[in-house]
Amino acid sequence: MSNASLSPLPSADRTDVTARLRDALLGASFTADGLLELLGAPAYAALSRSETVPALRATRGDTPLELLVRLFLLQQPVPHARAADVLPVDACLESGWLVSVDGELAATVDVRPYGGPDGEDWFIVSDLGCAVGGAGGIGSRAEGVVLGVGGASMTLAGLTVRTPVSAALDLGTGSGIQALHAARHATRVTATDVNPRALHITALTLALSGAPAADLREGSLYEPVDEDDTYDLIVSNPPFVISPGARLTYRDGGMGGDDLCRTLVQQTGERLNEGGFAHFLANWQHVEGEDWTDRLRSWVPRGCDAWIVQREVQDVTQYAELWLRDAGDHRGDEAEYQARYDAWLDEFEARKVRAVGFGWITLRRTAAAEPSVTAEEWPHPIEQPLGETVRAHFARLDYLREHDDAALLEAHFALAAEVVQEQVGLPGAEDPEHVVLRQNRGMRRATRVDTVGAGFAGVCDGTMSAGRILDAIAQLVGEDPVALRDRTPAQIRLLVEQGFLEPA
Ligand SMILES: C[S@@+](CC[C@H](N)C(=O)[O-])C[C@H]1O[C@@H](n2cnc3c(N)ncnc32)[C@H](O)[C@@H]1O
Repeated sequence: MSNASLSPLPSADRTDVTARLRDALLGASFTADGLLELLGAPAYAALSRSETVPALRATRGDTPLELLVRLFLLQQPVPHARAADVLPVDACLESGWLVSVDGELAATVDVRPYGGPDGEDWFIVSDLGCAVGGAGGIGSRAEGVVLGVGGASMTLAGLTVRTPVSAALDLGTGSGIQALHAARHATRVTATDVNPRALHITALTLALSGAPAADLREGSLYEPVDEDDTYDLIVSNPPFVISPGARLTYRDGGMGGDDLCRTLVQQTGERLNEGGFAHFLANWQHVEGEDWTDRLRSWVPRGCDAWIVQREVQDVTQYAELWLRDAGDHRGDEAEYQARYDAWLDEFEARKVRAVGFGWITLRRTAAAEPSVTAEEWPHPIEQPLGETVRAHFARLDYLREHDDAALLEAHFALAAEVVQEQVGLPGAEDPEHVVLRQNRGMRRATRVDTVGAGFAGVCDGTMSAGRILDAIAQLVGEDPVALRDRTPAQIRLLVEQGFLEPA
């Protein structure tokens, strides 16, 4: 792996220095909140898009916080004497966090404040100029460059079920962001990566964030973990890009097509403990003549329930352009850009790929005789963090598996929080054309219901059984109660499955 152009990394062994550095950073309010207050929302947001000019303008002063922002986020050398007022400079020089450049001091890595879900002051370490990545933002095209936290990292962190577990695995750890989150609720965290530089950076991220160290293992997919090691939680934001050849380790898996994602998902079944969750981000091919859901269903390992959500589909030209821009190729030589673009299209043509799907795959190990696999398209806005919604989705699956229609009619349900009813129809019309139930939380689903469904949902507060509510509705609308009890469980099942109704 060629990393010649990348800076040597700080020592991950000098935890005493890392602890002193952490204290100094916190002492100067170099935190997510401190940064927002100093920069203001527009400059703060611009920084997360890799745009540094607004932040440079906001840090022309002489406070310790401004100095740290220039040093660790904006890659500006700072005067030695000023830095010595804020940081343990000699120790940082000795352990490699800082280097001397023409009499001034420069950082060797990007250190970015990151607020944890319970207000923790964390720091994400990454290669210089690579804290955000994407859209041509990366500061290096070395093969082994390690990026910080991008949108995909945040999506995965938000999706993950956060119940306390014994053993968690972060496969393809990169900056260590997922391992850092897992350290809050897992007794033991293992983090793997094919790139040793990423493992080193993960050790720095964890130490600087004051989190326990992880068990770091180098290698591809499940190779570095012991053959019989199993986990309660597995998370991976893998190098899912479907590309004509491996160039950048953080995104190009180096297997053909979507084989890396398929292999990862398939090999996960035997690595999960019963009840354990695995969360993946993935890209998948839409191949001519094949339904994408059939392709994805075939990846799901035996003994696992699965929930697959396709969030976006891009045609092959959009897809190629996205990743050419991600690597900054559009800013380079025109002929080279065109040749690379051509190579992407050749690759897709050879594989009969028409489009690429982006989405999430969640597996849960189950003892059920017939595991459930849901593959759906949901391109609409959702509310993150979604981890609790994901956990509840699988809990409802269990509930529905255990309740036949007769049992559903005996059961009690409550309308989920923040579900509203919308009536759709022409303005002024006496009756709506149809009624929609809409969630304002989690997946933010909307579903059409008939008047019985809407009335039923409206009455569900957990006090009356479903059957008794239906009997009352039957009386109200003059329908045969037996017929209503017969036809409504399918609708109740759907409302429970999609989270509009919760078993009370
Ligand atoms: C998209 S980055 C994700 C980093 C981080 N987990 C996150 O969520 O931001 C993918 C990571 O997988 C690593 N990787 C690439 N190929 C791999 C493989 N075959 N096995 C394990 N890790 C791999 C890369 O080095 C990179 O750190």
